[in-house]
Amino acid sequence: MEIVILRTPADVARTAADAIEQQVLSGPSVLGLATGSTPLGTYRELIQRHRNGGLSFAGAQAFLLDEYVGLPGTHPQSYHSVIRREFVDSVDFPAGTVHGLDGVAEDLDAEAARYEAAIAASGGVDIQILGIGSDGHVGFNEPMSSLASRTRIKTLTQQTRQDNARFFTDHAAVPDHVLTQGLGTILEARHLLLLAMGEAKAGAVAAAVEGPVAALCPASALQLHPHVTVLVDEAAASMLAHRAYYQDTFGRKPAWQGL
Ligand code: PGA
Repeated sequence: MEIVILRTPADVARTAADAIEQQVLSGPSVLGLATGSTPLGTYRELIQRHRNGGLSFAGAQAFLLDEYVGLPGTHPQSYHSVIRREFVDSVDFPAGTVHGLDGVAEDLDAEAARYEAAIAASGGVDIQILGIGSDGHVGFNEPMSSLASRTRIKTLTQQTRQDNARFFTDHAAVPDHVLTQGLGTILEARHLLLLAMGEAKAGAVAAAVEGPVAALCPASALQLHPHVTVLVDEAAASMLAHRAYYQDTFGRKPAWQGL
């Protein structure tokens, strides 16, 4: 795991955009997209590079991490809608190449299996953007999710429903259930980019990075992956015990190595 502590959320967004740009420029790419507030700055940065610098997603396709059960793709808070509004509609992915889960599928198990097969058929995700929940979830893998889990239905914790209530009229309007890529699915992406900003994420980041690998903190499963980059601002890094070590090693890293 490489921990990169950056001064501000804008620095996190720029650095994440650099990693995604590098992947896209390297050839046909499969991107793993996350929703929530965390990656919005990264998407804005990529949109700007598309508009001003010609960065093109014409050779890319993408898979979303998760979706609310019960919200049709047309609902403004469905992740299908959110990703279109915040990113996809402003760049040039070819039509039909940004894939998500159908939260109103009649057979949710079959939908999960279809999605797993679609990711596999694409050749797998090259770079996966991840946020982290204040309870340590990645995707919507809540505490005690199997570290080997695959795409499936999950029940949101009340903490997550509270955290996400800001996107809805009130807490009660937040769906109880979601479809999410499993931890085992996420761990198959070739490069994981975990982003976290702000003090509210500091405890979860410390548990994920420096705590034991444990289902109690699903993001700690990332410790099992060979290529993880954790991009955090100073507030999100504030509870890390080994901050000085991460800063020292990143500062002396050979430039050619990249992220
Ligand atoms: P946030 O959510 O980006 O809205 O903070 C992160 C997450 O729940 O994974």
